[in-house]
Amino acid sequence: MDEKDLGNDLAKVLIPEDQLQAKIRELAAQIDADYQGKDLLLVGVLKGAVMVMADLARALHTPASMDWMAVSSYGSGTKSSGVVRILKDLDTDILDKHVLIVEDIIDSGLTLSWLISNLRSRGPASLEICALLRKPEAVKTEIDCRYLGFDIPNEFVVGYGLDYAEKYRNLPFVGTLAPHVYGG
Ligand code: XMP
Ligand code: MG
Repeated sequence: MDEKDLGNDLAKVLIPEDQLQAKIRELAAQIDADYQGKDLLLVGVLKGAVMVMADLARALHTPASMDWMAVSSYGSGTKSSGVVRILKDLDTDILDKHVLIVEDIIDSGLTLSWLISNLRSRGPASLEICALLRKPEAVKTEIDCRYLGFDIPNEFVVGYGLDYAEKYRNLPFVGTLAPHVYGG
């Protein structure tokens, strides 16, 4: 699927596929350098992180295990409240493991800050974050994201794992929606 298939649902392509893939390779090279000789566990946050997880994991030379969590942030509308519920927990024990959280996007940062304290309490050897995208709001929360893809404007984005009402996740690029799609 490419941008021609979208008709007029998409306002614009924000990050084309080749730029996404080049950035993933860059992040993978940094992660390889940092985790040499260590047992790495990638923790993907469902569902948004599936694409970045799949591409990042294949770009790594470091042997890595993969596990998944699904969480939901209670809150009104599209803003997360910071009150998080675990929908699917990890299958593995992370005690003494080198854990790298793989996320699609940091918006308010509330979901991730909750996740960090939750995972930290399980005693990992180390805990770092890799996020593909970060919005300006995230500056307000203290999230130390060691591996970051792109800082993006404060617009609703879809594609490459990110959805609007469960659609658009399978686009190979990141785009912004046309206002008429979400009633704007
Ligand atoms: P917070 O605000 O807690 O929430 O950092 C992050 C989660 O909110 C979702 N999110 C988005 N999803 N397009 C999306 O498809 C967006 O522009 C967007 N902004 C935030 C996403 O699930 C992320 O994990
Ligand atoms: Mg997410």
